[in-house]
Formats: sequence, C-alpha cells, structure tokens
Amino acid sequence: MPDQTHPETVDWNRYWSEADAEARASATPSAHHMRDLLADLFEAKGVPDSFTSVGCGPGVVAFDVAERHPDTTVVGYDAAESILAENRERAREENVENAEFERAVLPEFDPDRQFDVVFCYGTLCYVAESAPALRNLYGAVAPGGYLVLGYVNDQGRATYQGWLDAPDDHPDESFDPERFEERFRLVVEGESTLSYRSIHDALGTWPRSFWEFTDRPDERWAWDHVPSVWVPK
Ligand SMILES: C[S@@+](CC[C@H](N)C(=O)[O-])C[C@H]1O[C@@H](n2cnc3c(N)ncnc32)[C@H](O)[C@@H]1O
Repeated sequence: MPDQTHPETVDWNRYWSEADAEARASATPSAHHMRDLLADLFEAKGVPDSFTSVGCGPGVVAFDVAERHPDTTVVGYDAAESILAENRERAREENVENAEFERAVLPEFDPDRQFDVVFCYGTLCYVAESAPALRNLYGAVAPGGYLVLGYVNDQGRATYQGWLDAPDDHPDESFDPERFEERFRLVVEGESTLSYRSIHDALGTWPRSFWEFTDRPDERWAWDHVPSVWVPK
C-alpha cells in the first residue's frame, strides 16, 4: 500500500488511518460548506443520474448524495487506500448499494466512464499540477453535466499566510502553525491556488459562482477565499 500520494503533500494514507474525530472534522470541509449547497444545486438543475466526488475523504458528500438519491450512481475517488477501505466497509454495513469507492491520484484521473456531476472539494489545494488535474476532471464530465469545484484562491493564500505570521489571530485556540504550514505548503507557496482566470485558461470555459442559484449569507466568509464554483459542459 503506498504511503504517500505526492511527496510534497500530506501522507493522507496515514492521516486517515490514524485520524481521531477532531482530525476528521478538520479534513472534511465539505461537511461544513457543501452539503446544503449541493442540495440547492440539484434543486435548480435536477438530481444527476451519476455523481463522483474526487478526493472524497470519508465520503461526507458521496454518502450524503447516495443516501438522499438512491437512483443516483455515486463513485468516490481518493488517493488514500485507507479511507477507501473504510468507505467500502461503511457502504457494506449500511447497505448503501449505489456508492462505490476507487483509487485515483490527481492530476491523473481517467475513469472508464463520464459523470453528470464531477465534484472536487478541498483537494486541489494538495495538487501542484492544477491545470492537468482540472482538464482530467472536466474530461470526466458528461456532455450537459458540470464540474463543481471548491478551491483556495490568492485571498485564501493571504489569509493562511496571515495566520502563520500571527498565529494568535487564528479563531481556533488549538491552531498549530507548524502542522498548518506543512499541510497547506502548496497553497502558502502559491503552487496550488486557483482563480476564475486559471480555471478558464485550463478548461476554455469560465467557471460560474454558486451565488447564481443559492443564497447562504452565513457562509459567504468562506466563499471569498475558498470559492465554490460550477463549470458547465
Ligand atoms: C481535506 S480532504 C477533503 C475531503 C472531502 N473532499 C471533503 O471536503 O470533505 C482532502 C482529500 O483529498 C485526498 N487527496 C489528496 N491528494 C490527492 C490527490 N492527488 N488525488 C486524489 N485525492 C487526493 C486526501 O486523501 C483527502 O481525502
């Protein structure tokens, strides 16, 4: 079993095999920001027949979509075998028959099928080769479908750097600057930040904001530096 996905990022295989509840919460941003937004998206655009979450982690969104929509085929991909094994076990135990979990390591992503919705949240910040990753993700979107992305932009990078410069300003008292710097090294060094422009340049299509069909002012703070966008195909 490979220990690391990319040497420059976190050892996610080990991370998930050792993660306690706090570590899980800190590495599942979709739980805080995405569940309700996706429900709004599906209400506006229709429930997809097929959905994939790439960099699915413990499958917060993958299980949620599969359980809410039993007719939707869901595939969760992740680089870390340990979390894939855990997800497969959960699917078996909870009789979730429409969700599968497979290994994929971005920037490579070449599933043998396309999906109505390709979702990649909280993951591209760990991938230095953003443009090929984006192209491969978009390539897996079926015509008429869309790619959904949550990414860190330059404002996020500045926010992260600000926390590293003044750790006491971080809202969470248990903030550990050393671990944070290690985990978000690619963001802080500007190697994995994205923008509307860089997404457009990679895909030839402009991303569109979630604000088009949802209004959740409480969460706007997050969207300024970790925008959520969708890219139609
Ligand atoms: C911060 S977690 C986000 C999990 C989930 N998307 C969420 O938002 O709740 C990042 C996930 O991406 C996975 N990951 C990291 N690098 C990856 C890569 N190059 N390809 C695929 N998955 C990767 C990690 O194993 C981890 O599960």
